[in-house]
Amino acid sequence: MVGDWLKANLIVWRAMMGNRFEGKVAVVTGGASGIGRRTAEALLEQGARVVIGDRDEALLSECAERFDPASSATVRVDVTSEADVERLVMTAAHRFGRLDIGVNSAGVGTLSSIRDHGVDSWKQVIDVCLTGVFLSVKHELKQMASGGGAIVNIASINARQPAEGMAAYCSAKAGVEMLTKVAALEAAPHGVRVNAIAPGFVETPMTAPTRSAVRAQFVASIPAGRPGSPDDIARAVLFLAGEDASWISGETLVVDGGEVHREYPRLLSGF
Ligand SMILES: NC(=O)c1ccc[n+]([C@@H]2O[C@H](COP(=O)([O-])OP(=O)(O)OC[C@H]3O[C@@H](n4cnc5c(N)ncnc54)[C@H](O)[C@@H]3O)[C@@H](O)[C@H]2O)c1
Repeated sequence: MVGDWLKANLIVWRAMMGNRFEGKVAVVTGGASGIGRRTAEALLEQGARVVIGDRDEALLSECAERFDPASSATVRVDVTSEADVERLVMTAAHRFGRLDIGVNSAGVGTLSSIRDHGVDSWKQVIDVCLTGVFLSVKHELKQMASGGGAIVNIASINARQPAEGMAAYCSAKAGVEMLTKVAALEAAPHGVRVNAIAPGFVETPMTAPTRSAVRAQFVASIPAGRPGSPDDIARAVLFLAGEDASWISGETLVVDGGEVHREYPRLLSGF
């Protein structure tokens, strides 16, 4: 008897949780891989319709095969191009009639001391990680201005945690954190919230080339005892994008298993 009651409630609870984003339309940049891909998938699982923007055509094709075309679309974009970003956002409006959620996850990294840093690789990281987020926020806000919405930028613990060899990345991510705060102020009158997530070390294609000795140091620096998964970050993104966070804006939520509280690995020395 109690078992039946529990089972019935579980079914209702699952149905409710499964439709958390029913009727919502989202754009996810960098949505073909890693954190962005898992976020796009989680939004689809929760009832949203999702437009995935990425520059990697092969990965986009994989997404197009995997996800239901009735609720998803893929667009090849380079987030450093304003015309591309505008086209991505307009695809959401044309295809699904609105835009409620923007998740800005496209990013790249590089490892070089400042002394040896080529200006081209500096500019590339700043362009993708900071200017790309600026352009995405700009056009998502323009689209949301009439109906409200939520934007979640993917920053990094390196927005606050300096790391040798990561000057461009740390600077870009620090910029994303401040951009998030300014955007939150400007967006508030339009009913739009803007927040960021600062992930710690997450196992994705971006971190896959990390040498095993460095990876071991990263894992040792995480009090939770394991690296993050894309799903750890996606669940936090969905929290900030959803109604449970309706009074949170301009914040950066650190999602890192406690990593920022331990000493950061020294990336340029000893490897
Ligand atoms: N993995 C980590 O440990 C970690 C930690 C902190 C922050 N982050 C951030 O999370 C975000 C996602 O990273 P990930 O780990 O999932 O990496 P990933 O490499 O798996 O995904 C990044 C995606 O961005 C796309 N991309 C890169 N440049 C682009 C451009 N110019 N235009 C459009 N798309 C572009 C790539 O094609 C790729 O699909 C990044 O912003 C990254 O800086 C990752």
